Amino acid sequence: METMKAIVCEKYGLPEVLKIAQRKKPMPKKNEMLIKIYATSVTNSDIFIRSSHVDPQLIVPFRLMMGFTRPRNPILGEVFSGVVESTGSGIWRFGVGDHVYGLTGFSLGAYADYLCMKETDSKKGCVALKPKNISFEEATSAAYGGLLAFQSLEKRNISAGHKVLIYGASGTSGTIAVQYAKHCGAMVTAVCGPSSLDFVRSLGADMALDYTKNESIRCLEKYDLVFDTVGKRKTSDMKKASRAALKANGTYLSIDDGALLLESDRLNRITSLVESGIIKPVNDRVYPFEQIVAAHRYVEMGHKKGNVAVTVNC
Ligand SMILES: NC(=O)c1ccc[n+]([C@@H]2O[C@H](COP(=O)([O-])OP(=O)(O)OC[C@H]3O[C@@H](n4cnc5c(N)ncnc54)[C@H](OP(=O)(O)O)[C@@H]3O)[C@@H](O)[C@H]2O)c1
Repeated sequence: METMKAIVCEKYGLPEVLKIAQRKKPMPKKNEMLIKIYATSVTNSDIFIRSSHVDPQLIVPFRLMMGFTRPRNPILGEVFSGVVESTGSGIWRFGVGDHVYGLTGFSLGAYADYLCMKETDSKKGCVALKPKNISFEEATSAAYGGLLAFQSLEKRNISAGHKVLIYGASGTSGTIAVQYAKHCGAMVTAVCGPSSLDFVRSLGADMALDYTKNESIRCLEKYDLVFDTVGKRKTSDMKKASRAALKANGTYLSIDDGALLLESDRLNRITSLVESGIIKPVNDRVYPFEQIVAAHRYVEMGHKKGNVAVTVNC
């Protein structure tokens, strides 16, 4: 039996539950391709699943969906970039040697050498050609942060002169949201913590406000769009004030409004924006595969700047 290395989570708990193990190398079915994974990400979703820290009323639905005593797929990881190694006879969009990136959704499985993916979108994921001008590690940032940010922002018709506030501008989706809103011509106010103010200005933000300081509230203007990229579980007085700082016809969006859509068309548009230099995905840290526990500990602290990637193969 051919095997591969994988990071497995055999019980819910602290980062230390993650172990490196050998698992059977998957074989693609007719409508699947085998992808050799070069990089993955440690996302908030991975932390959420591994720790199983959910509100008490959600514990039963969560475990029904993910597995009762451990994740049903013990190989975590929702984000991948890599190279197509072989294809089933029903695959026509991709060929052997293509550099691809994408998400697996809650079917997970990206913390491993290999993954089988369909080329069509489904709740088990989406895949597209990776931007040529960035590394595999950077591509994981573009895939996750891009899909999260774009599903909220693309349909909003942000245009020149619009005032846009990005709350949580220093995270994976926030960094992409700032760059995209600037590209559309908006005046962008970026809200982040004290150590990220210069960083978000370097992404193009016109103004950077510290959510830990109540004086920031006095600097708020009236916005056409306020986009909360940190989600409903994290708040502050500044977040409440930002939510109220809307023009009469302004819109407030939360990244947690609706499920993440796994759409390769949107990934293709992200690829174009990255290749044309409009969006530059940001990695805070890149960890080797063997240091997955340290990577989870770091992301769990909640203050990464951009994405945290993990190199799977070089
Ligand atoms: N809709 C869906 O299906 C779906 C799927 C996946 C994820 N999500 C949501 O997407 C969220 C964002 O994910 P992400 O990976 O882009 O975020 P992230 O990278 O983890 O965001 C980290 C940033 O959040 C900032 N932050 C932490 N606490 C904050 C607070 N109270 N107020 C303001 N900023 C705060 C930190 O900035 P400082 O260091 O400056 O404090 C850090 O830079 C997740 O938390 C989840 O809620 C939704």
